[in-house]
Amino acid sequence: MRLQGKTVLVTGAASGIGRGIALRLASEGANVVVAVHRLDERSEQVCKQIREAGAQAWPVQGDVAGVGEVERLFREATAAAGSIDALINNAGIEIRATFGEVTEEDYDRVLNVNLKGPFFLSQQFVQHCRQQGRGGKIVNISSVHEDLPFPNFTSYCVSKGGLRMLMRNLAIELAPLGITVNNIAPGAIQTPINKGLQQRPDQLRALLANIPLGRLGEPGDVAGLAAFLCSADADYITGATLVIDGGLLWNYAEQ
Ligand code: BGC
Repeated sequence: MRLQGKTVLVTGAASGIGRGIALRLASEGANVVVAVHRLDERSEQVCKQIREAGAQAWPVQGDVAGVGEVERLFREATAAAGSIDALINNAGIEIRATFGEVTEEDYDRVLNVNLKGPFFLSQQFVQHCRQQGRGGKIVNISSVHEDLPFPNFTSYCVSKGGLRMLMRNLAIELAPLGITVNNIAPGAIQTPINKGLQQRPDQLRALLANIPLGRLGEPGDVAGLAAFLCSADADYITGATLVIDGGLLWNYAEQ
């Protein structure tokens, strides 16, 4: 198994894409730090499934929106797991609002979870790699909306655009340390983040009409790519955004 003996920290690992990634990593032999906003039945369940797959799982709780919490979370993660080989910044939120209606509170929340969290968690991870005297891998779960406009989700797009530049900058700055940094840009994946959309048939139909492969993605569609990026097969990939969207981003047709 290509991830045997590796340990990966995944944020937002109790549901959606993060859960899919955590389970896939375990199936490829990796031990997983299951970082969650809240310890609950869902995080317990994910840990149980990881252990059933024969890997180790350590749940850690924290809100990635604040630097103090991020530092504590990372400290607890290394205390439990020892060495961490890869970090997957997956936790993310979106809040729908027209531009005129965006509140400061919502803006801060979206930017803090989606951008500040990955920024400072990556900082912790880099310090850890230096202490261990080895390289590592950072994978951010971004979105097609790091490039593609999404009306009524401006703060979300700003956060993902920022995540793109965070990744590009770190890829260059951290390369001498042997740390690779890449983004995965999913399109419309069936997860709790777009549960509302799934309950609005007209909107869902319009979205599906924009997806050449004609369906929403599943967390499992994204998980294999995350496992690949954590593996030695991806050692020479850094500074890249890998899109996984059923063709959504570059779709164009006149009829
Ligand atoms: C968003 C979803 C949206 C999808 C495609 C994702 O980044 O979280 O709400 O459906 O992009 O537009």
